[in-house]
Amino acid sequence: MSPPPLDIGALAEQAWDTLRQRLTAAGIALQPAYIEAITPVWRALPQNAFAALAFANALMINDRFVLYRRLMDLAREEACGAALLGWAIDHSGPSLAETLADHRKDELRHSRMYLSACDSVLPERAGDRIRDFEVSAEEEFGQPLDRDSVAPLMASIHVGELRNWINLSIYLSLLSQSNCIYAEHLHSVIKTVENDESHHVFYTSAFVNKWLMEENCGDESFRNIARSYAGCWWNDVARINRWAATERDFKAASPCHVPDHRDPRQD
Ligand SMILES: [Fe+2]
Ligand SMILES: [Fe+2]
Repeated sequence: MSPPPLDIGALAEQAWDTLRQRLTAAGIALQPAYIEAITPVWRALPQNAFAALAFANALMINDRFVLYRRLMDLAREEACGAALLGWAIDHSGPSLAETLADHRKDELRHSRMYLSACDSVLPERAGDRIRDFEVSAEEEFGQPLDRDSVAPLMASIHVGELRNWINLSIYLSLLSQSNCIYAEHLHSVIKTVENDESHHVFYTSAFVNKWLMEENCGDESFRNIARSYAGCWWNDVARINRWAATERDFKAASPCHVPDHRDPRQD
């Protein structure tokens, strides 16, 4: 078997260093409870998980049918994030609410950007796609929300942002090696989103860190929240493979007329 197309372990460590340096520059030292809770989600994955993720993502990036499914999924995830932030805006003090409102605007913009990227990747389906996602904050959070939920909700958003940031870094790296005709355009779209996401990761990590410093019950709560995300990388692998299987049926039934790859003679 050939080696994985990308060293995701190294990429995750690099992201970790970037975040830590940025926090240090802002005078923020991460709490041991933060590091302990987040490590299993982010840095201490088994090597075979990283390898499986690298193979699955390389398959996805180079197959526009599978990639389309992921871009639709990202558009929905961004809309879900915006719904959670909408709830948090209504239940926060004015200074946090202002930051959250900017964050929500970013997520709604990202959702539209991903929908429009779907058209460039798979123009045949431009008429099919859902344009609005109906999501409720409580459904997305998975439990009833009350006024004590702002901090746990922010912690959950933070871990989701971290995962998203790493996934986007994976896509950028694979797109920069791809010769698919949509690779250059999609790279610039995802790079723009990734810049915003790195800011979301930074400010939400500072929020969670402060929460852990101030609240006694924060440690266990954050550990449980982080733990609930630990299996998500395997879910990513599973859903990419599931899409590859279902899209194979679609491709067989509907032959594609748009070339997948650039003609090297045109380079
Ligand atoms: Fe986003
Ligand atoms: Fe975000």
